[in-house]
Amino acid sequence: MTAPRTAPPAGPDPAALAAAFTEAYAAPPEGVWHAPGRLNLIGEHTDYNDGLVLPFALPLGVSVAAARRDDGVLVVRSLQAAGDGVRTPVDGGPISAEDWPDGRRWAAYPAGVARVLRPSGTGGASLLIDADLPQGAGLSSSAALECATALALCELYGVQIARPELARLAQRAEHEHVGVPCGLMDQSASLLCTAGHALLLDCRSGLSAQVPFAPSGAGLALLAVDTRAGHELAGGEYARRRDECERAAAALGVDALRDVTDLAGALASLRDPVLRRRAQHVVTENHRVEAAAGLLRAGAVAELGALLTASHLSLRDQFEVSWPEADTAVEAALRAGGRGGRMIGGGFGGSVIVLTAAARADRVRDAITAAYAKRGWTAPAFLEADPAEGAHRVR
Ligand code: GLA
Repeated sequence: MTAPRTAPPAGPDPAALAAAFTEAYAAPPEGVWHAPGRLNLIGEHTDYNDGLVLPFALPLGVSVAAARRDDGVLVVRSLQAAGDGVRTPVDGGPISAEDWPDGRRWAAYPAGVARVLRPSGTGGASLLIDADLPQGAGLSSSAALECATALALCELYGVQIARPELARLAQRAEHEHVGVPCGLMDQSASLLCTAGHALLLDCRSGLSAQVPFAPSGAGLALLAVDTRAGHELAGGEYARRRDECERAAAALGVDALRDVTDLAGALASLRDPVLRRRAQHVVTENHRVEAAAGLLRAGAVAELGALLTASHLSLRDQFEVSWPEADTAVEAALRAGGRGGRMIGGGFGGSVIVLTAAARADRVRDAITAAYAKRGWTAPAFLEADPAEGAHRVR
């Protein structure tokens, strides 16, 4: 996310990737597929509580050049990684952390997808991966890699799987082969989003709706701020939050926190203060998603700011997943006249989004950069994005 302030970011060049594939594998690819990363407008830590989310696709993402193989093997190389990549059978049990200990853990994502899709009729393939989405910035580079691979394999083998189902299969690959108990948001965003819209997704029913969202058309800017705090340590905390939410739901006698209809009553009946805070966040966050979708449908994009900030405060104080760089960025943005802002993703690192009048965007960026400099932190990186297209074939 070191994008210059003016030029819009571009996905990896499909022709260059195809040429690199031909060089690497001594034969041209059969096609090139692209899947975007996402920003989540609102609805954080709601997906695994059967709740609502409102993400949109970034113009940045992961591209995969691919060709079938008839030996039942997946060969994966990446332009971002040195070495020969990974060779692995598409038939096989769960991939383990020991399989590729030497910095090739990223290969578990495409390999996991190949194994999960195998029973549907896909087979071996040679893949070459390229990405213009920064890793570790909380923009779902993993889901983009899964979804680009999934789409490539399905189209190569003529396997037809509806996209909502494909998102669930990509999520399953991450659960079973990477060991991350993620929700459904990131894969759904990558596969289902459309340009000019945010995706209102009900993570229980799987039903979704495209909600118009074009901040630049309304004289606004949606800035993503890479806080430059990695979230490698977030795994354990993420699993703990999931567990706390499940315990809160069980104590309340509901299937998921999504089902809480009397929040005050629920809070009064939960004895554990930690579970009370978790429930309060999830239930109020679902309301904020509905309110945000209502504002977008009314064309009142600028009014979103207060909801974003309320979401941030809830994630900071009730769900306790924010981090100092995120809090500082949001506070600096608000002081500089930004309309609202919040951390996005799982927490403990990654990105923040800020909604501001376009005319104030420079002031907001400068204020965040200055707040960082005052604390001696690595300067943040900015990206300004309007919603882009979901995963598709590019060549
Ligand atoms: C991560 C997960 C998502 C979601 C968010 C929090 O990005 O991959 O499924 O749970 O955290 O909203």
